[in-house]
Amino acid sequence: MKVLETTDLEQKFQDKIDREVKIEPNDWMPDAYRKTLIRQMSQHAHSEIVGMLPEANWITRAPNLRRKAVLLAKVQDEAGHGLYLYSATETLGADREATIDDLHSGKAKYSSIFNYPALSWADIGAIGWLVDGAAIMNQVALCRCSYGPYARAMVKICKEESFHQRQGYELLTTLAQGAPEQKELAQDALNRFWWPALMMFGPNDDESPNSAQSMRWKIKRLTNDELRQNFIDATVPQAELIGLKVPDENLKWNEETGHYDFTPINWDEFWQVVNGNGPCNKQRVDARRKAKEEGMWVREAALAFAEKRKKKLTA
Ligand code: 3HC
Repeated sequence: MKVLETTDLEQKFQDKIDREVKIEPNDWMPDAYRKTLIRQMSQHAHSEIVGMLPEANWITRAPNLRRKAVLLAKVQDEAGHGLYLYSATETLGADREATIDDLHSGKAKYSSIFNYPALSWADIGAIGWLVDGAAIMNQVALCRCSYGPYARAMVKICKEESFHQRQGYELLTTLAQGAPEQKELAQDALNRFWWPALMMFGPNDDESPNSAQSMRWKIKRLTNDELRQNFIDATVPQAELIGLKVPDENLKWNEETGHYDFTPINWDEFWQVVNGNGPCNKQRVDARRKAKEEGMWVREAALAFAEKRKKKLTA
Protein backbone atom coordinates (compact mmCIF):
# COMPACT_ATOMS: atom_id res chain seq x y z
CA MET A 1 0.00 0.00 0.00
CA LYS A 2 1.61 3.35 -1.07
CA VAL A 3 2.28 5.71 1.86
CA LEU A 4 -0.32 8.53 1.49
CA GLU A 5 0.57 12.00 0.18
CA THR A 6 0.13 14.43 3.04
CA THR A 7 -2.16 17.50 3.25
CA ASP A 8 -1.94 19.96 6.15
CA LEU A 9 -4.60 18.10 8.19
CA GLU A 10 -2.88 14.83 7.51
CA GLN A 11 0.47 16.34 8.43
CA LYS A 12 -1.00 17.56 11.74
CA PHE A 13 -2.44 14.10 12.28
CA GLN A 14 0.89 12.42 11.56
CA ASP A 15 2.64 14.84 13.96
CA LYS A 16 0.21 13.74 16.69
CA ILE A 17 0.97 10.09 15.93
CA ASP A 18 4.73 10.79 15.98
CA ARG A 19 4.32 12.55 19.36
CA GLU A 20 2.59 9.42 20.72
CA VAL A 21 -0.70 11.29 21.25
CA LYS A 22 -3.56 8.78 21.22
CA ILE A 23 -6.20 9.28 18.53
CA GLU A 24 -9.71 9.28 20.03
CA PRO A 25 -13.09 8.66 18.31
CA ASN A 26 -14.03 12.35 17.97
CA ASP A 27 -10.60 13.41 16.66
CA TRP A 28 -10.05 14.22 12.99
CA MET A 29 -8.45 11.27 11.21
CA PRO A 30 -7.72 10.45 7.54
CA ASP A 31 -10.49 8.27 6.02
CA ALA A 32 -7.85 5.67 5.21
CA TYR A 33 -6.81 5.48 8.88
CA ARG A 34 -10.44 4.94 9.90
CA LYS A 35 -10.95 2.40 7.12
CA THR A 36 -7.91 0.25 7.90
CA LEU A 37 -8.77 0.26 11.61
CA ILE A 38 -12.35 -0.83 10.92
CA ARG A 39 -10.92 -3.55 8.66
CA GLN A 40 -8.41 -4.84 11.23
CA MET A 41 -10.53 -4.41 14.38
CA SER A 42 -13.67 -5.99 12.91
CA GLN A 43 -11.66 -8.96 11.62
CA HIS A 44 -10.04 -9.24 15.03
CA ALA A 45 -13.52 -9.35 16.60
CA HIS A 46 -14.66 -11.98 14.07
CA SER A 47 -11.57 -14.05 14.97
CA GLU A 48 -12.49 -14.01 18.64
CA ILE A 49 -16.06 -15.15 17.95
CA VAL A 50 -15.18 -17.81 15.35
CA GLY A 51 -12.29 -18.88 17.61
CA MET A 52 -14.86 -20.12 20.13
CA LEU A 53 -16.11 -22.81 17.74
CA PRO A 54 -13.22 -25.34 17.67
CA GLU A 55 -12.95 -25.22 21.47
CA ALA A 56 -16.70 -25.33 22.17
CA ASN A 57 -16.79 -28.83 20.63
CA TRP A 58 -14.60 -30.09 23.49
CA ILE A 59 -16.41 -28.57 26.48
CA THR A 60 -18.64 -31.65 26.85
CA ARG A 61 -15.66 -33.96 26.27
CA ALA A 62 -13.29 -32.43 28.82
CA PRO A 63 -11.60 -35.24 30.84
CA ASN A 64 -12.60 -33.80 34.24
CA LEU A 65 -14.57 -31.03 35.92
CA ARG A 66 -11.51 -28.79 36.42
CA ARG A 67 -10.57 -28.93 32.72
CA LYS A 68 -14.21 -28.33 31.76
CA ALA A 69 -14.44 -25.27 34.04
CA VAL A 70 -11.17 -23.86 32.64
CA LEU A 71 -12.26 -24.39 29.02
CA LEU A 72 -15.70 -22.90 29.71
CA ALA A 73 -14.07 -19.81 31.24
CA LYS A 74 -11.77 -19.44 28.24
CA VAL A 75 -14.54 -19.75 25.65
CA GLN A 76 -16.65 -17.23 27.58
CA ASP A 77 -13.65 -14.86 27.64
CA GLU A 78 -13.37 -15.09 23.83
CA ALA A 79 -17.03 -14.08 23.47
CA GLY A 80 -16.33 -11.07 25.66
CA HIS A 81 -13.26 -10.17 23.61
CA GLY A 82 -15.35 -10.28 20.45
CA LEU A 83 -18.05 -8.02 21.89
CA TYR A 84 -15.39 -5.65 23.25
CA LEU A 85 -13.79 -5.40 19.83
CA TYR A 86 -17.10 -4.97 17.98
CA SER A 87 -17.85 -2.09 20.37
CA ALA A 88 -14.41 -0.58 19.77
CA THR A 89 -15.05 -0.88 15.99
CA GLU A 90 -18.36 0.98 16.42
CA THR A 91 -16.45 3.98 17.85
CA LEU A 92 -15.16 4.45 14.28
CA GLY A 93 -18.70 4.59 12.92
CA ALA A 94 -18.96 0.94 11.85
CA ASP A 95 -22.47 -0.52 12.05
CA ARG A 96 -22.54 -3.69 14.19
CA GLU A 97 -25.15 -5.56 12.11
CA ALA A 98 -23.40 -4.73 8.82
CA THR A 99 -20.05 -5.81 10.31
CA ILE A 100 -21.45 -9.17 11.37
CA ASP A 101 -23.24 -9.60 8.03
CA ASP A 102 -19.83 -9.16 6.33
CA LEU A 103 -18.60 -12.19 8.27
CA HIS A 104 -21.67 -14.23 7.34
CA SER A 105 -21.47 -13.29 3.67
CA GLY A 106 -17.78 -14.27 3.50
CA LYS A 107 -16.79 -10.66 2.71
CA ALA A 108 -14.85 -10.22 5.97
CA LYS A 109 -11.84 -12.27 7.07
CA TYR A 110 -11.10 -13.88 10.39
CA SER A 111 -7.90 -15.55 11.53
CA SER A 112 -6.93 -18.47 9.29
CA ILE A 113 -6.04 -20.63 12.29
CA PHE A 114 -9.70 -21.19 13.13
CA ASN A 115 -10.27 -23.02 9.88
CA TYR A 116 -8.35 -26.02 11.20
CA PRO A 117 -10.20 -28.75 13.13
CA ALA A 118 -9.65 -29.55 16.82
CA LEU A 119 -9.34 -33.34 16.48
CA SER A 120 -8.24 -34.36 19.97
CA TRP A 121 -8.21 -33.10 23.56
CA ALA A 122 -4.52 -32.28 23.06
CA ASP A 123 -5.58 -29.80 20.36
CA ILE A 124 -7.29 -27.77 23.08
CA GLY A 125 -3.91 -27.50 24.75
CA ALA A 126 -2.19 -26.61 21.47
CA ILE A 127 -4.81 -23.93 20.74
CA GLY A 128 -4.32 -22.33 24.16
CA TRP A 129 -0.51 -22.58 24.11
CA LEU A 130 0.16 -21.74 20.43
CA VAL A 131 -2.89 -19.82 19.14
CA ASP A 132 -3.42 -17.71 22.24
CA GLY A 133 0.36 -17.52 22.63
CA ALA A 134 0.61 -16.05 19.11
CA ALA A 135 -2.38 -13.79 19.80
CA ILE A 136 -0.67 -12.43 22.94
CA MET A 137 2.55 -11.70 21.00
CA ASN A 138 0.49 -9.69 18.54
CA GLN A 139 -1.88 -8.10 21.06
CA VAL A 140 0.75 -6.91 23.53
CA ALA A 141 2.11 -4.76 20.71
CA LEU A 142 -1.43 -3.55 19.95
CA CYS A 143 -1.68 -2.23 23.54
CA ARG A 144 0.47 0.62 22.15
CA CYS A 145 -1.70 1.15 19.07
CA SER A 146 -2.25 4.83 18.19
CA TYR A 147 -6.04 4.43 18.27
CA GLY A 148 -7.14 4.83 21.92
CA PRO A 149 -10.16 2.51 22.13
CA TYR A 150 -8.27 -0.36 20.41
CA ALA A 151 -5.20 0.04 22.60
CA ARG A 152 -7.31 0.12 25.77
CA ALA A 153 -9.35 -2.93 24.69
CA MET A 154 -6.07 -4.81 24.22
CA VAL A 155 -4.92 -4.13 27.79
CA LYS A 156 -7.96 -5.94 29.21
CA ILE A 157 -7.88 -8.70 26.59
CA CYS A 158 -4.17 -9.45 27.09
CA LYS A 159 -4.72 -10.11 30.78
CA GLU A 160 -7.19 -12.88 29.91
CA GLU A 161 -5.09 -14.21 27.00
CA SER A 162 -2.23 -14.92 29.42
CA PHE A 163 -4.54 -17.25 31.37
CA HIS A 164 -5.56 -18.86 28.04
CA GLN A 165 -1.96 -19.51 27.03
CA ARG A 166 -0.95 -20.87 30.46
CA GLN A 167 -3.89 -23.26 30.72
CA GLY A 168 -3.10 -24.61 27.24
CA TYR A 169 0.57 -25.11 28.06
CA GLU A 170 -0.30 -26.77 31.37
CA LEU A 171 -2.72 -29.11 29.61
CA LEU A 172 -0.02 -30.17 27.11
CA THR A 173 2.59 -30.49 29.88
CA THR A 174 0.27 -32.94 31.65
CA LEU A 175 -0.13 -35.01 28.49
CA ALA A 176 3.56 -34.83 27.55
CA GLN A 177 4.49 -36.13 31.00
CA GLY A 178 1.75 -38.79 30.94
CA ALA A 179 1.51 -42.20 29.27
CA PRO A 180 3.31 -42.67 25.91
CA GLU A 181 -0.07 -42.50 24.11
CA GLN A 182 -0.77 -39.15 25.81
CA LYS A 183 2.63 -37.78 24.83
CA GLU A 184 1.93 -38.91 21.26
CA LEU A 185 -1.37 -36.98 21.30
CA ALA A 186 0.50 -33.84 22.46
CA GLN A 187 3.16 -34.23 19.75
CA ASP A 188 0.51 -34.80 17.08
CA ALA A 189 -1.29 -31.61 18.14
CA LEU A 190 1.96 -29.63 17.95
CA ASN A 191 2.67 -31.12 14.52
CA ARG A 192 -0.72 -29.95 13.19
CA PHE A 193 -0.92 -26.53 14.84
CA TRP A 194 2.67 -25.27 14.60
CA TRP A 195 2.67 -24.00 11.01
CA PRO A 196 -0.91 -22.60 11.02
CA ALA A 197 0.03 -20.73 14.23
CA LEU A 198 3.00 -19.11 12.44
CA MET A 199 0.67 -18.09 9.62
CA MET A 200 -1.52 -16.18 12.12
CA PHE A 201 0.98 -13.29 11.98
CA GLY A 202 0.17 -12.69 8.31
CA PRO A 203 2.28 -12.74 5.15
CA ASN A 204 5.97 -11.85 5.09
CA ASP A 205 6.53 -8.11 5.42
CA ASP A 206 7.43 -7.69 1.75
CA GLU A 207 4.11 -9.34 0.83
CA SER A 208 1.98 -7.40 3.32
CA PRO A 209 -0.03 -4.64 1.59
CA ASN A 210 -1.22 -3.02 4.83
CA SER A 211 1.85 -3.14 7.05
CA ALA A 212 3.90 -0.17 5.83
CA GLN A 213 1.08 2.32 6.38
CA SER A 214 -0.04 0.64 9.62
CA MET A 215 3.52 0.98 10.95
CA ARG A 216 3.65 4.65 9.92
CA TRP A 217 0.36 5.28 11.72
CA LYS A 218 1.59 3.23 14.71
CA ILE A 219 -1.41 0.92 14.47
CA LYS A 220 1.27 -1.76 14.25
CA ARG A 221 4.37 -1.39 16.39
CA LEU A 222 6.12 -4.52 15.13
CA THR A 223 5.89 -6.05 11.68
CA ASN A 224 4.40 -9.47 10.88
CA ASP A 225 7.85 -11.05 10.56
CA GLU A 226 9.16 -9.46 13.77
CA LEU A 227 6.17 -10.73 15.76
CA ARG A 228 6.46 -14.19 14.18
CA GLN A 229 10.15 -14.38 15.02
CA ASN A 230 9.51 -13.29 18.62
CA PHE A 231 6.85 -16.00 18.92
CA ILE A 232 9.18 -18.71 17.58
CA ASP A 233 12.05 -17.61 19.82
CA ALA A 234 9.77 -17.72 22.89
CA THR A 235 7.90 -20.94 22.04
CA VAL A 236 10.61 -23.37 20.90
CA PRO A 237 12.22 -23.55 24.38
CA GLN A 238 8.77 -24.17 25.88
CA ALA A 239 8.28 -27.16 23.55
CA GLU A 240 11.70 -28.54 24.41
CA LEU A 241 11.05 -28.11 28.15
CA ILE A 242 8.15 -30.59 27.97
CA GLY A 243 9.92 -32.96 25.62
CA LEU A 244 8.02 -32.09 22.43
CA LYS A 245 9.70 -31.55 19.05
CA VAL A 246 8.77 -28.59 16.84
CA PRO A 247 7.94 -30.03 13.37
CA ASP A 248 10.65 -28.15 11.41
CA GLU A 249 13.86 -30.01 10.55
CA ASN A 250 15.57 -26.67 9.67
CA LEU A 251 14.80 -25.07 13.03
CA LYS A 252 18.14 -24.02 14.47
CA TRP A 253 19.37 -21.41 16.95
CA ASN A 254 21.51 -18.83 15.15
CA GLU A 255 24.14 -17.44 17.54
CA GLU A 256 24.86 -14.58 15.14
CA THR A 257 21.29 -13.23 14.88
CA GLY A 258 20.15 -14.36 18.33
CA HIS A 259 17.06 -15.92 16.73
CA TYR A 260 15.92 -19.33 15.50
CA ASP A 261 16.32 -19.96 11.79
CA PHE A 262 13.30 -21.81 10.40
CA THR A 263 11.91 -23.24 7.16
CA PRO A 264 10.06 -20.72 4.95
CA ILE A 265 6.28 -20.93 5.41
CA ASN A 266 4.04 -22.58 2.80
CA TRP A 267 2.15 -19.45 1.71
CA ASP A 268 0.06 -21.38 -0.83
CA GLU A 269 -1.62 -23.18 2.09
CA PHE A 270 -2.08 -19.84 3.88
CA TRP A 271 -3.80 -18.15 0.92
CA GLN A 272 -5.88 -21.28 0.22
CA VAL A 273 -7.21 -21.09 3.79
CA VAL A 274 -7.62 -17.29 3.79
CA ASN A 275 -9.53 -17.53 0.50
CA GLY A 276 -12.07 -19.95 1.93
CA ASN A 277 -10.60 -23.35 1.04
CA GLY A 278 -9.37 -24.45 4.45
CA PRO A 279 -10.52 -27.66 6.19
CA CYS A 280 -13.32 -25.94 8.17
CA ASN A 281 -14.10 -22.57 6.51
CA LYS A 282 -17.65 -23.52 5.41
CA GLN A 283 -18.45 -25.20 8.75
CA ARG A 284 -17.32 -22.14 10.70
CA VAL A 285 -19.27 -19.54 8.70
CA ASP A 286 -22.37 -21.81 8.58
CA ALA A 287 -22.20 -22.14 12.39
CA ARG A 288 -22.11 -18.35 12.78
CA ARG A 289 -25.04 -17.88 10.36
CA LYS A 290 -27.04 -20.55 12.23
CA ALA A 291 -26.29 -18.90 15.59
CA LYS A 292 -27.67 -15.62 14.26
CA GLU A 293 -30.83 -17.27 12.88
CA GLU A 294 -31.48 -19.26 16.03
CA GLY A 295 -30.78 -16.24 18.21
CA MET A 296 -33.11 -13.89 16.30
CA TRP A 297 -35.94 -14.40 18.82
CA VAL A 298 -33.68 -13.07 21.61
CA ARG A 299 -32.95 -9.92 19.60
CA GLU A 300 -36.61 -9.43 18.72
CA ALA A 301 -37.69 -9.91 22.36
CA ALA A 302 -35.03 -7.48 23.62
CA LEU A 303 -35.99 -4.88 20.99
CA ALA A 304 -39.72 -5.29 21.77
CA PHE A 305 -39.00 -4.86 25.48
CA ALA A 306 -36.84 -1.77 24.83
CA GLU A 307 -39.56 -0.30 22.56
CA LYS A 308 -42.24 -0.89 25.21
CA ARG A 309 -40.08 0.64 27.95
CA LYS A 310 -39.31 3.68 25.78
CA LYS A 311 -43.07 4.21 25.11
CA LYS A 312 -43.77 3.95 28.85
CA LEU A 313 -41.01 6.42 29.76
CA THR A 314 -42.07 8.94 27.11
CA ALA A 315 -45.87 8.52 27.69
N1 3HC B 1 -5.89 -14.96 8.70
C1 3HC B 1 -6.72 -14.36 7.82
N2 3HC B 1 -6.36 -13.26 7.08
C2 3HC B 1 -5.13 -12.78 7.29
C3 3HC B 1 -4.21 -13.33 8.21
C4 3HC B 1 -4.64 -14.48 8.92
N3 3HC B 1 -3.85 -15.09 9.79
N4 3HC B 1 -3.06 -12.61 8.17
C5 3HC B 1 -3.26 -11.63 7.26
N5 3HC B 1 -4.48 -11.75 6.74
C6 3HC B 1 -5.07 -10.90 5.69
C7 3HC B 1 -5.18 -9.47 6.17
O1 3HC B 1 -6.40 -9.25 6.85
C8 3HC B 1 -5.12 -8.72 4.81
O2 3HC B 1 -6.36 -8.83 4.16
P1 3HC B 1 -7.37 -7.56 4.13
O3 3HC B 1 -6.57 -6.39 3.61
O4 3HC B 1 -8.48 -8.00 3.24
O5 3HC B 1 -7.80 -7.37 5.58
C9 3HC B 1 -4.15 -9.59 3.99
O6 3HC B 1 -4.18 -10.88 4.60
C10 3HC B 1 -2.73 -9.05 3.98
O7 3HC B 1 -2.23 -9.09 5.30
P2 3HC B 1 -1.51 -7.81 5.95
O8 3HC B 1 -0.33 -8.29 6.70
O9 3HC B 1 -1.28 -6.74 4.90
O10 3HC B 1 -2.67 -7.31 6.92
P3 3HC B 1 -2.50 -6.60 8.33
O11 3HC B 1 -1.53 -5.48 8.24
O12 3HC B 1 -3.87 -6.30 8.77
O13 3HC B 1 -1.84 -7.71 9.28
C11 3HC B 1 -2.69 -9.07 11.07
C12 3HC B 1 -2.55 -8.91 9.55
C13 3HC B 1 -1.30 -9.26 11.68
C14 3HC B 1 -3.56 -10.29 11.38
C15 3HC B 1 -3.33 -7.79 11.62
O14 3HC B 1 -4.56 -7.60 10.95
C16 3HC B 1 -3.59 -7.85 13.12
O15 3HC B 1 -2.69 -7.66 13.91
N6 3HC B 1 -4.86 -8.07 13.50
C17 3HC B 1 -5.23 -8.01 14.93
C18 3HC B 1 -4.93 -9.30 15.61
C19 3HC B 1 -5.80 -10.42 15.10
O16 3HC B 1 -6.70 -10.25 14.33
N7 3HC B 1 -5.50 -11.62 15.55
C20 3HC B 1 -6.27 -12.76 15.08
C21 3HC B 1 -6.25 -13.78 16.11
S1 3HC B 1 -7.29 -13.32 17.42
C22 3HC B 1 -7.20 -14.65 18.36
O17 3HC B 1 -6.47 -15.54 18.09
C23 3HC B 1 -8.06 -14.65 19.55
C24 3HC B 1 -7.53 -15.54 20.62
O18 3HC B 1 -8.21 -15.19 21.79
C25 3HC B 1 -7.80 -16.98 20.34
